[in-house]
Amino acid sequence: MERKELDMFLTDRTSTGKTKVSVKRDTEKMTNQVIINGTSIQVRPEENILSAALRQGIDFPHSCRVGGCATCKCQLVEGKVKELTETGYLLSDEELDNGFILACQSIPQTDVSIRVENKETIYGKVFQQKILTDEICEISIQLDTKLNFNAGQYVSLSIEGLDAERNYSIANAPNEKGIVRFIIRKVPNGKLSNYIFNEPLVGKKAKVKGAFGNFYLRENKNPILMVAGGSGLAPILAILEQGILNGIKRPLTLLFGARKKEDLYKINEIQKIEKIWKGKFTFVPILSEEPKNSSWKGERGLVTSKIKDHLTKDTEAYLCGPPPMVDIATKELLQSGIEKQSIFADRFTTIDHSLSLQIDDKKTRYKASFFDYLKFFLFHAVGLTSVVSLLMGGTYTTIGFFSLLFFYIVGDAISGDDKSTPSYSKPEILTLQLWMALPILSLIFFCSTWTVSPTDTLGFGSWLTDLFGYDFNLAKANTPTLVHFYAVILTGLMIGLVGTITAHELTHRTWDPISMFIGRWLLAFSFDTIFSIEHVYGHHRYVSTTEDPATAPRGRNVYYHILASTIKGNLSAWKIETKRLKRKNLSILSYHNAFLRGHLMSLSLVGLAYWIGGMPGMFFFIAAGLFGKTLLEIVNYMEHYGMVRLPEEPVQPRHSWNTNKRISSWTMFNLTRHSHHHAQGEVAYQDLRPYPNAPMMISGYLTTIVVALIPPLWHYLMIPKVMEWDKKFASPEELELAKIANEKSGIARLIASNKE
Ligand code: FES
Repeated sequence: MERKELDMFLTDRTSTGKTKVSVKRDTEKMTNQVIINGTSIQVRPEENILSAALRQGIDFPHSCRVGGCATCKCQLVEGKVKELTETGYLLSDEELDNGFILACQSIPQTDVSIRVENKETIYGKVFQQKILTDEICEISIQLDTKLNFNAGQYVSLSIEGLDAERNYSIANAPNEKGIVRFIIRKVPNGKLSNYIFNEPLVGKKAKVKGAFGNFYLRENKNPILMVAGGSGLAPILAILEQGILNGIKRPLTLLFGARKKEDLYKINEIQKIEKIWKGKFTFVPILSEEPKNSSWKGERGLVTSKIKDHLTKDTEAYLCGPPPMVDIATKELLQSGIEKQSIFADRFTTIDHSLSLQIDDKKTRYKASFFDYLKFFLFHAVGLTSVVSLLMGGTYTTIGFFSLLFFYIVGDAISGDDKSTPSYSKPEILTLQLWMALPILSLIFFCSTWTVSPTDTLGFGSWLTDLFGYDFNLAKANTPTLVHFYAVILTGLMIGLVGTITAHELTHRTWDPISMFIGRWLLAFSFDTIFSIEHVYGHHRYVSTTEDPATAPRGRNVYYHILASTIKGNLSAWKIETKRLKRKNLSILSYHNAFLRGHLMSLSLVGLAYWIGGMPGMFFFIAAGLFGKTLLEIVNYMEHYGMVRLPEEPVQPRHSWNTNKRISSWTMFNLTRHSHHHAQGEVAYQDLRPYPNAPMMISGYLTTIVVALIPPLWHYLMIPKVMEWDKKFASPEELELAKIANEKSGIARLIASNKE
């Protein structure tokens, strides 16, 4: 049974493609070559294709980097790769049949050739630059050769004189002359948009790469509703131009939202289109902040509030603008009965690179000393000390419990930060030490359950008494009920610390069957084996977005979060797992279901607890296990509270609360370095960087857990941090999302901050 469980996570994929790859193997360094759309790169041993591509400056599409999002999918044309994860979670049957792989989860075993979505790079020159409003500018570029694209798509644009590249929609239809126009909104602190807006650009060289996206007009006869906000008019103008060229007769309504009269642009052009459009054309400009006493006679309000007035049953909608507008519009449409497949959207985002992933610490990394290995063994000492204090019972258990709190809370307060990242030449020692968590947790489980057993199971107490001369059976009999309560919490803390934290590290190693096996059993102690599914394929994909059950929105209290995250996390894991089974044509009610198998593992532990400690032992274990699970949810709460992110943007270090407190870092396998962990989930814990400039948690882990359990104190301390995050870290789009989150939080200070 276990073997199958192990096998599920390790598969080899060999290409069936016919193209011959003529590449040389670098035998000295034992590296493989990978040809990506014709460009050759070197991949180090055990390096995945995505990491190698990014390291060598290849612009490879990616997001989560842990096999959770499929952004890095590509087609294996030739060669063989070792796949680190179960790709059936993300790739469709068709994609699997056609040899698609995930670049971030594929380690070449031979020289390899892959194909990723083709990106054409074309150079050209700016020949026109027009300021349209205070915030909107238009530039026109003559390309050296014609660009192939669909009206409505976007490209990556860069202009001579500035080292920056951003995505912008093309505002005109494809043409033989190779002219592309862009409508660009000036974004506060936006490097390229400010450059385009403020510098004379005519005559400067430009580079476009693309085209991308699936925002283009679908062919059918249904009425069209277009909703544009700000510079979101650009791809819509392109689609309209193409529509005229194609002689489209479909009735069309264009809702164009702006704040004031002077923010409207391209009105004459739209009026011309209105006259020549073959079907009925309705143009409705809508102003949201136009003064009441102005001469404006048109519509007022938010553009999204007018959607319902212009719908028919079979409307096909095209939405383009800032993400909040697109999200609200989508909701309106769905509520009005428009099918999801009839809604097409282009969310305008700008990638913010504040605190980006750039790591340049090669020179400061030193060779790990004996102590650097030893420090990560501190958790074994903590686990074994707990066993002793539980077995000795009475005052010793109480002392053990309070000493643990003291060790973490005071230890973190006085020992400062650990920002070192030594270079470990023997990572296998650290892996072995992670694996040791299972025997230690099993020992804690047996001993703690034994302490409430009405009998001396297996003669364990007598054996210990003979060995050490301390009467363990008597100590057990004399332990008062209150101390058993401390014992439950202490055991729960150990299940969280020795079990969940270690399992977190291990279940990220989806390529290693032993780590997966141990990790899942460690999770079984907290009834949370679904973590091995949801965390990698859900949480890492959606972290800091509203889609993620583990990310707590602003204003939520921890007790509600524990419940909500547990229920939604289980539902999400079930969805992910059943989808995978369906894709593989496997029965949901079968051994193959890792969700069901995992819960059965926990149930078997409940049975074992009953055997060791009878009914008291069983209830003791259930309470301790649930407390362990609760701890995980509190930790989730602390790690991402109030953060916002656009799902389509890669996770950055700014999307997690980080801490470098020494005791927490040493005993929790650098889980504390959460900023780096989420930005690069494939990195082993010993190589995670401290990111001292990342958003910082209140303190070390146990201290922050205690604070989180007191909601007024939590919000008192966290609200200023969240507000600082908005100012210091949020991209312009995230700021918009933050405003919505503030409104929903119900917290007066956050709501007031929207007006600052
Ligand atoms: S699956 Fe590879 S980047 Fe997300």
